[in-house]
Amino acid sequence: MFLATIFFFSALLPFSLSHPRDPFAWLYGRQGDAFASLQGASGGQCPEECDCPPTFPVAMYCDGRGLTAMPNVPARIKYLYLQNNAITSVPESALVNATSLVWLMMHYNQLTSEAIDKKVFLKLEGLERFYLQHNNLTSIPSNLPRSLRDLRINNNKIEKVSPADLEGMDNLTILYLHDNALTDMSTSLKALTSLTLLDISGNKLTKVPGALPDHLHQLYLESNSIDSVPEDFLGGLTHLQYVRMGHNQLTDKGIPPNTFNVTGLVELDLSFNKLERIPIVSTTLQHLYLQANQIKEFTLGSFCSFMDVTNFSKLRTVRLDGNEIGRQDIPSESSMCLRMASDIEV
Ligand SMILES: *[C@@H]1O[C@H](CO)[C@@H](O)[C@H](O)[C@H]1NC(C)=O
Ligand SMILES: *[C@@H]1O[C@H](CO)[C@@H](O)[C@H](O)[C@H]1NC(C)=O
Ligand SMILES: *[C@@H]1O[C@H](CO)[C@@H](O)[C@H](O)[C@H]1NC(C)=O
Ligand SMILES: *[C@@H]1O[C@H](CO)[C@@H](O)[C@H](O)[C@H]1NC(C)=O
Ligand SMILES: *[C@@H]1O[C@H](CO)[C@@H](O)[C@H](O)[C@H]1NC(C)=O
Repeated sequence: MFLATIFFFSALLPFSLSHPRDPFAWLYGRQGDAFASLQGASGGQCPEECDCPPTFPVAMYCDGRGLTAMPNVPARIKYLYLQNNAITSVPESALVNATSLVWLMMHYNQLTSEAIDKKVFLKLEGLERFYLQHNNLTSIPSNLPRSLRDLRINNNKIEKVSPADLEGMDNLTILYLHDNALTDMSTSLKALTSLTLLDISGNKLTKVPGALPDHLHQLYLESNSIDSVPEDFLGGLTHLQYVRMGHNQLTDKGIPPNTFNVTGLVELDLSFNKLERIPIVSTTLQHLYLQANQIKEFTLGSFCSFMDVTNFSKLRTVRLDGNEIGRQDIPSESSMCLRMASDIEV
């Protein structure tokens, strides 16, 4: 790349010579006009440690180059790739000109919360996708842009999310917070009116976050320490299709009677908990995972409260292996109710 630009530039030397400054400044310095025009060959000014393809001048690729500090980001850049480096800090100066950013990829670095300037992201008013997973963050960075649609901060060390962290993010549809150290989310999710996918699995939550956003399609809560759920906690979530709560501490007592009898749900995963009974589920559910609990009885009423030609369960998959029942415990009239189930594992 560097050699190619030298050849390219030797053809332009006469022009450079007419410049009042040292024509060879570009060879040993990286500052000033000479540098800027040299890099004209690659689609605009571009730091030496990165690539800015001439065919896609709004993108800057700096991923996987062993960087420990932020490069300078020219104002035209919309898509910035900084993942897989060892960047430890984001000082205020780092993104002063980068106000056009739409995507900012910073996953797999060494960022700590203390080393991120409090206002550095404030001016990125068009940022939509921000990846920060696999860093060393202990909190959500301050003043994130309200324009975000996809925020990924999984695999960090975040302990707490407060309402101010996510305030006003009306367009956020995807939030990955899994594999952190969350113990408390208070009502931080309440404002996220567009959120469809929430992944907070692999944390230390002992209860379901309050005020779940209305538009959720997917709710992933597995591998926490949740032992009970509030009455009607899925009640207002009319778009919800996938609920995963495997690997928690759920008991029968912790699940109010019609909690999972909500229409619209397609998949429910309650595997690896401490349930002794099959919870009541809606007839519209298609996949139910209950393996590795302590279920002692096959209660057909959990699937069909009433059976006739039109009232039957839409379940296709039912997993009950790793419980205290066997195939002999499934009553013969089950075939009436579970007539779509091609896969019942006991
Ligand atoms: C920002 O842009 C100004 C003016 O073009 C320039 O002088 C400065 O070096 C730039 N800063 C960074 C960090 O890119
Ligand atoms: C980030 O965490 C890893 C693993 O816990 C550790 O080895 C590394 O030193 C940390 N880096 C910083 C900058 O704190
Ligand atoms: C959300 O998206 C809409 C439509 O693209 C846009 O007009 C609006 O400014 C965005 N909201 C924020 C807070 O950026
Ligand atoms: C599940 O909910 C439906 C609709 O609200 C209701 O008709 C049905 O009786 C409930 N199932 C059970 C087993 O309670
Ligand atoms: C179940 O049966 C009742 C009473 O016969 C009927 O009103 C209802 O529409 C049926 N539900 C479904 C899902 O077919």
